[in-house]
Amino acid sequence: MPGVREHQLHVVAVPEGRKPAHPSISQDQICALVERFYEAVWADPTLGPIFSDRIGGDRAAHLEKMKLFWSSVLLRTGVYKGKPVPAHQKLSEVKAGDFAVWLAHFRQTARQVFSPEAAPIVISIAERIALSLWQAMNLNLAHLKPVTTPSKRN
Ligand code: HEM
Repeated sequence: MPGVREHQLHVVAVPEGRKPAHPSISQDQICALVERFYEAVWADPTLGPIFSDRIGGDRAAHLEKMKLFWSSVLLRTGVYKGKPVPAHQKLSEVKAGDFAVWLAHFRQTARQVFSPEAAPIVISIAERIALSLWQAMNLNLAHLKPVTTPSKRN
């Protein structure tokens, strides 16, 4: 989502009736989460090369997109309009162990940034999304194709 500036994120209000994942979570914390987390990810020997190869010099644009994503997920602001599943389905080089590394960095950063009450909630949301992304990446539709023709019923 090029062109969306960080200051725009700060003026986004939580739509009425939509509760944040935890009342203590702020936009500033989301910005800190994304910046610190991707700092760690880019420096990681396993994940760093995947992100550099795929994102290259567009790191700032990726961080802005991820701030919108986590704002939508944690504050229910609805500012993220992307599609994470197809974005990950094309990452054929990613292995199950990479998700474990991703989550280890995420847990560590979330504990640094959020209150002790909010951190476990944020972590469990990330774990749930990670699992569903991994499942979507490994869902081979060919497996769902029927191999036998059902016999006619009378
Ligand atoms: C090993 C684990 C992961 C790797 C290596 C990875 C890598 C990537 C890469 C390379 C992109 C950029 C794709 C592109 O623009 O072409 C991306 C996008 C994204 N990732 Fe991940 N990812 C991982 C796990 C996750 C998890 C667990 C989440 C959420 C909890 C997540 C959320 C997103 C989102 C929201 C985008 C932006 C999609 C879009 O709208 O374009 N990723 N990821």
